[in-house]
Amino acid sequence: MNAQVNVLVAFYSRGGSVEALAEAVAEGARLAGASVRVRRVRELVDQETMQLAPGWIESAARMNQTYEAPSLDDARWADGLAFGAPTRFGSAASELRAYFETLGDLWLRGDLAGKAAGVFTASSSPHGGLEATGLGLYPTLAHLGMIIVPTGYGHPSLFRAGTPYGAATVSYGAERRPPTEDDLVVAAYQGERLAGVAAALKAYRSQIGPPPT
Ligand SMILES: Cc1cc2nc3c(=O)[nH]c(=O)nc-3n(C[C@H](O)[C@H](O)[C@H](O)COP(=O)(O)O)c2cc1C
Repeated sequence: MNAQVNVLVAFYSRGGSVEALAEAVAEGARLAGASVRVRRVRELVDQETMQLAPGWIESAARMNQTYEAPSLDDARWADGLAFGAPTRFGSAASELRAYFETLGDLWLRGDLAGKAAGVFTASSSPHGGLEATGLGLYPTLAHLGMIIVPTGYGHPSLFRAGTPYGAATVSYGAERRPPTEDDLVVAAYQGERLAGVAAALKAYRSQIGPPPT
């Protein structure tokens, strides 16, 4: 990769599955030569609600110490953006959606148009909605004018893990299984591919004018 490229990995995670994928996506992008920022969106609910789920407060505190919250500047800075969220009742966690909804001003200015973007997710069961979650995020990326970069079947591990829409892992409920080696390989591949496409799109983006008024 010749051009300097910036990649933002913005995720929400409660139990660590999506966090592990986020780190692998980031690592793949770094290996491709990108500068990477990894950010965790914050909780939307109060402490009383968080206390109902054992370990939630502790894991949120740990992750919030490790990762800054994503900002508008992070999205502006990035040439490629990877968004990760757990599957919640068949679609992406609201915490990530809330971040998207802060991006209205950037959307209005066309600041995100032509940037490469991808998605990744976790669920507790293999047919609990992984693919629906990935696909459900695509319209938002399209509205923001981003160029959606799917994982496809560009790596052999995609025949054993992930989805063609983005990296994924299954945690199997109370078993809390961490991502498999193949899950992480797919996520790293996604980061590498996103960085490569983001770099290739830089020349195109320099030709895009401001959005029509
Ligand atoms: C409110 C809620 C809704 C969930 N909905 C689904 C679901 O629809 N399908 C599924 O397979 N798992 C569902 N899960 C399980 C999570 O997707 C799963 O535990 C995932 O690994 C969490 O990712 P994390 O460890 O990064 O937080 C749900 C969990 C919660 C708390």
